[in-house]
Amino acid sequence: MHIPTQEHWNETVTRESSRGKLERVKEVKSFMIKNWQDRYSDNIKEFQGYSIGKIFKYLNNPEIISLAGGLPSPEMFQVFEMRLASQKRLEEDIYTIMQYTAVPGEITLIDAILGFLKRDNINIQEENLVVTSSGQHGLDLTGRLFLNPGDIVMLDRPTFAGAIVAFQMQRPKIIGIDLQEDGVDVDSYKIKLEELVKKGQKPKFIYVVPDFQNPSGITTGLEKRKALLELSYKYDIPIVEDSPYRDLRYRGETVPSIFSLDQQNGGSNVIGLYTFSKLFCPGIRVGFNIGPADVINRMTNIKEANILNTPKYNQDMCTEFLTTMGFDKHINKCRKYYREKLDLFLQTMEECFPPEMGVTWTKPEGGLFLWVTVPEHIDTNELFMEAIKYKVAFVPGEVFYGENPSKNHMRINFSFASKEQLTEAVKRLSKCIKAYV
Ligand SMILES: Cc1ncc(COP(=O)(O)O)c(C=O)c1O
Repeated sequence: MHIPTQEHWNETVTRESSRGKLERVKEVKSFMIKNWQDRYSDNIKEFQGYSIGKIFKYLNNPEIISLAGGLPSPEMFQVFEMRLASQKRLEEDIYTIMQYTAVPGEITLIDAILGFLKRDNINIQEENLVVTSSGQHGLDLTGRLFLNPGDIVMLDRPTFAGAIVAFQMQRPKIIGIDLQEDGVDVDSYKIKLEELVKKGQKPKFIYVVPDFQNPSGITTGLEKRKALLELSYKYDIPIVEDSPYRDLRYRGETVPSIFSLDQQNGGSNVIGLYTFSKLFCPGIRVGFNIGPADVINRMTNIKEANILNTPKYNQDMCTEFLTTMGFDKHINKCRKYYREKLDLFLQTMEECFPPEMGVTWTKPEGGLFLWVTVPEHIDTNELFMEAIKYKVAFVPGEVFYGENPSKNHMRINFSFASKEQLTEAVKRLSKCIKAYV
């Protein structure tokens, strides 16, 4: 074997010093890799990452009111309770907190979550649950477990951009079905499924966010949930139900989760994805996936390879959140706080967008987002750049489509900005659109 010497590695080059003098220095040259692109895996070569990230570089100016991020309000963080719980856990258990911990999750947290799910008519065992390091990790495990390149995933148009990127890592074919005002368009799913199955192209799974969907805020009603489940049984296709916003309902009746409906039928067709990010805090990066024991076991194997374990401290904070930090009171507080913001936002929209402007928007019953549609000739990517001049920001709708994006929509977050900022943001948006049109 040829072993390079120091002479091969270094080349002497002339360069200008910081004081403006020319100097001779040795630089590592000969064995430098010049082309990294050709070495990346096929899965990653074309992968561009999370496209939402690209707009955030425009938001550095503090005068810009951002309705772009999916951030819960820091006013809803239980800072006092969190400090207390944190101190308690560190005093009681600092040595185990500093250690590696079980891959599937801390048993204390798993027990607390099993109790939490019972409130929602979900009755599962420890073997049906893996703790994840957030909802995004749960999506990543799902994509890795099920998808080979070219496999089909069906989902709504629009849907959560983070799910699209997580699945895209495995290079599937994404088939989208337009979402309706009252949720998942089950009839169109059926037509498409029939067509695909006939061609021998059975999708690997259907991904949905039935409660206060990101980005539209739309909720899918009970009949449609049941009908979607029927499709899953008929065509033998799992449903991945992502539920980060389920407890953030501000009005109307809770609709049973597809997971619980499946359980009532004695089925095992649904995988549920959950996160503590929206209800507790995103900084803690903890969530959980539930489903058939074999699926969860396989997800746990993947987790072992990709992050090993979720930090015990973070899990302990979530256990405290569910058991000692006044959970019910906290949820009620969040619901009241966000309801007020949503109502104010909707009212200001009515005032600032008269019907002749041709702008429409969803009226969510919960969650953190609503979906605004502008006249078809407006491309919201371009409108975004204009809106920045008016010091207001949103997410252009394009990123929420797996393929053939629709360009005249925007996602609006109403949870993070203050009430004053929300009304000002709507006024700025209205002025901007009037001028742009
Ligand atoms: C539908 C949906 N799933 C998953 C996630 C990811 O959540 P997390 O912040 O816990 O990674 C989000 C976050 O916005 C979401 O809206």
